[in-house]
Amino acid sequence: MTLMAKRILIGVTGGIAAYKTPELVRRLRDQGAEVRVVLTAGGAQFVAPLALQAVAGHPVYTHRFEPAGSGMEHIELARWADAVVIAPASADFLAKLAHGLADDLLSTLCLASATPLWVAPAMNQQMWRATAVQANVATLRARGVGFVGPASGAQACGEVGVGRMSEPGEIVSAVADSFGVPVLAGRRVLITAGPTREAIDPVRYISNRSSGKMGYALAAAAVRGGAQVSLVSGPAALDAPANVKFTRVNTARQMYDAVLAQVGECDIFVAAAAVADYRPAQIATKKIKKNAETLSLSLVRNPDILRVVAARAAPPFCVGFAAETDAVEAHALRKLQDKKLDMIIANAVGEGLHTGFESDQNAVVVVWAEGRREFATMPKTTLAQALMTMIAEHYAAKNPA
Ligand code: C5P
Repeated sequence: MTLMAKRILIGVTGGIAAYKTPELVRRLRDQGAEVRVVLTAGGAQFVAPLALQAVAGHPVYTHRFEPAGSGMEHIELARWADAVVIAPASADFLAKLAHGLADDLLSTLCLASATPLWVAPAMNQQMWRATAVQANVATLRARGVGFVGPASGAQACGEVGVGRMSEPGEIVSAVADSFGVPVLAGRRVLITAGPTREAIDPVRYISNRSSGKMGYALAAAAVRGGAQVSLVSGPAALDAPANVKFTRVNTARQMYDAVLAQVGECDIFVAAAAVADYRPAQIATKKIKKNAETLSLSLVRNPDILRVVAARAAPPFCVGFAAETDAVEAHALRKLQDKKLDMIIANAVGEGLHTGFESDQNAVVVVWAEGRREFATMPKTTLAQALMTMIAEHYAAKNPA
């Protein structure tokens, strides 16, 4: 699926070709894309919102300020999209785009968006040839707007010429090609995330402050990169990312078993979980009562999942995390060598930091045998994208095709 997890915003403006747009939406989704549709008043004269909603699997946006909305739909949608595709694009809409008008939701969000914009014009052949339309087309092309079509042939008005909207398949191909080959196409990526919980008695456990956000963001980024992704997660209050194989575990030993069961079929292993190093030697069968003044827990070591995976005869490309409170990079380098990893991602954790555990932000240093690279504080989702791209590049350098 060439558009796996790509977020495509379809704009529908007024034109008879709008009857083909539900087919376009369906085909984009067949290729794995997530689709949202914005329908202009003109578009709604030609295609019913419900038809588009049914194929998109999501309500259609029609108004700039939806009664129950935030009033910021144009910004939210503009940020959400990986690409905006106007199909059909009427002569009127091309003019609006060329001149920066913003009098409805679609034209406003086009102005608010920095993502690639595609148009599939559709209009009468005489209109298409009109000097004013061609001037607008030239303006838009010069600005980097992508054009698909128009195609030539019989028109709804009975005339023959250039002005038909390109077929949905052609529009899908143009958009898919523009994304290029995903960096992780065909790769199988196994990721651990979140904390583990080690039971003390039936109601208590030992755990840590890991939220799982970084590992989940990495899984989503790997999916966007075209990989087949399996996520093994300890208890985290997050929804499983779309399109990943998801295994939920509690303890370090369950995580170990789940990883070992799958690691033979993976190319890249990313250990983002904060695995408890120790577990209680015994789990009390009944709730421990507070009788004694002091209570000692005897702990035993948990298996080191990443170390075991990296020590296999034919290990996958292994990426570890090092969450440290001090001497972050020195500890990371030691772990890289000691656990025989390909790459380690080090971040500072601890009181007073607005990065690392539980935070939506992170700042890291990536360390590998021959180098290092720093990433300043940024949202974990953005960082995950950059890290996954780096992992893909290093994997490709180590495993030339
Ligand atoms: O040695 P340390 O626990 O600091 O190493 C952290 C790295 O090792 C992380 O990538 C973590 O996911 C992984 N790890 C593991 N199994 C453990 C402990 C750590 O996979 N039992």
